[in-house]
Amino acid sequence: MILILLTLIQAIDARNSLARTPPMGWMSWELFRCDVDCSVDPTSCISESMYKAQTDSLSEDGYVKAGYTGIHMDDCWESKHPPRDPITQKLAPNATRFPSGLKALGDYMHQKGATFGLYTAESPTTCGGYPASANMEVLDAQTFAEWGVDYMKVDGCGPANYYKGGYKAMGAALEASGRDIVYSCSWPAYINGGNETKQPFAEFINDGCNLWRNYDDIQCNWASLAGIIEHWGKYGESLVPYAGPGHWHDMDMLLIGANCIAEPEERTQMAIWSISAAPLIMGNDLRNVSDASKAILLNTDAIAVSQDPLGQMGMRISQGDTTGQVWARNLANGDVAVALYNDGASKPIVPPFKNDTSTCSSDSSNQTWTTVTGGYYEACDGSGGDLGQFSNLTVAQAQKQCCSNSNCAGFSFMNGAGYWKANANCGITKAKDFSGYTRTDAIPLPDTSTLSITVNFNDPNINLYGEIDVYDIWEGKSLGTFTSSYTAKNVISHDTAFLILSKKK
Ligand code: GLA
Repeated sequence: MILILLTLIQAIDARNSLARTPPMGWMSWELFRCDVDCSVDPTSCISESMYKAQTDSLSEDGYVKAGYTGIHMDDCWESKHPPRDPITQKLAPNATRFPSGLKALGDYMHQKGATFGLYTAESPTTCGGYPASANMEVLDAQTFAEWGVDYMKVDGCGPANYYKGGYKAMGAALEASGRDIVYSCSWPAYINGGNETKQPFAEFINDGCNLWRNYDDIQCNWASLAGIIEHWGKYGESLVPYAGPGHWHDMDMLLIGANCIAEPEERTQMAIWSISAAPLIMGNDLRNVSDASKAILLNTDAIAVSQDPLGQMGMRISQGDTTGQVWARNLANGDVAVALYNDGASKPIVPPFKNDTSTCSSDSSNQTWTTVTGGYYEACDGSGGDLGQFSNLTVAQAQKQCCSNSNCAGFSFMNGAGYWKANANCGITKAKDFSGYTRTDAIPLPDTSTLSITVNFNDPNINLYGEIDVYDIWEGKSLGTFTSSYTAKNVISHDTAFLILSKKK
């Protein structure tokens, strides 16, 4: 595999010398979204003070030193009224939330050793409805350069027929701006319906994109993360030839430390993202990260896999319901990084509850309902888990309606409106303004099953023969020398054993 891939990669060169390894940093979108109400949320609204606080944590808590240099502002920083400066036509930040302006904020990041990432879109407005850069590429790229921006996430939230010319124009404008600005293109995520075999990756690279979002936004729950891993697993062979120094596939933000997935799931994301040479951009609140999550994020061996100088993306090389998944990535020194992932496939997701309508009622004293605030239990199973939406109901009315439907496991609720769920198997999704009402007997028990997962060293994608040293990245120690294969025993559901295989010297 190594030789074939190298030939392909050499044929595709990045337009600039930026992002030679996958970008690392922190981004606001996952937890802070478009919260612009600073009177209600003074410490978590999209504002200068929130970005400064995140910059402080990034710098003081060891993230910058480990390589996580980017502070990436996402949507909703822009002034809406007026959308552009009436005289210069430049974009401007919201003056109340960013009183010092973005040049000063960028200077603050740079002083702390961080780099400045900003967001716009190749459409008249951003996905959040704020002014964006369609037809204004040259002026906007100059403005971003004047502010000291180092990285632009360029979304696309308008007519898709604009993207072909628009992303090319923005690539050229960023290049002509006189500043080195990494160019992150969301274009692929909005065309070809997620079919990676149809994507014109060479065109994205020729237009200057240093990385691109291919697929769905990550949401703060396991089902979303697992779905993205499955997408990369399914399309590995189509994706690998187009990743390399200066041009990467972006799997979206890390949920590690965002308090919405379990610790084994956090290890899995770190391992699969590193094997896949995906950017490591954290979506947590850096002021509130547990020690366990921090240890995963700052694991130097995992980061070394992600940032390996060969820049060759890895992929899933085998899978099976009872055998787990094996992912592998070739490293510059001839070692192979391997992730042995228990995706829980041996335990299919089925609605676990028997909705007995005679015992279900809206009376909260009868133990029928489990309530969560600041989120809700989400249904797995895509559209099969979704029973539609409602509005204009009280909680008691919604409970009563859910009780009368034997498929209804519960619902999410905000101001009288919400969504009915057929199961609760995807666990809690955090969402600040929502509550969740779930039938207690529909809440899934944790999956405690385990798998033993084997990697064969002579797999054509690994190609290691003789005595092989096996090093455990999570344990930080060698597990010994093995010939022909290694089996990680009792990998718990959703967890991943992360190993380095080296030929014994
Ligand atoms: C889109 C993008 C997200 C985020 C939002 C902002 O959904 O895919 O990553 O930037 O827009 O509105």
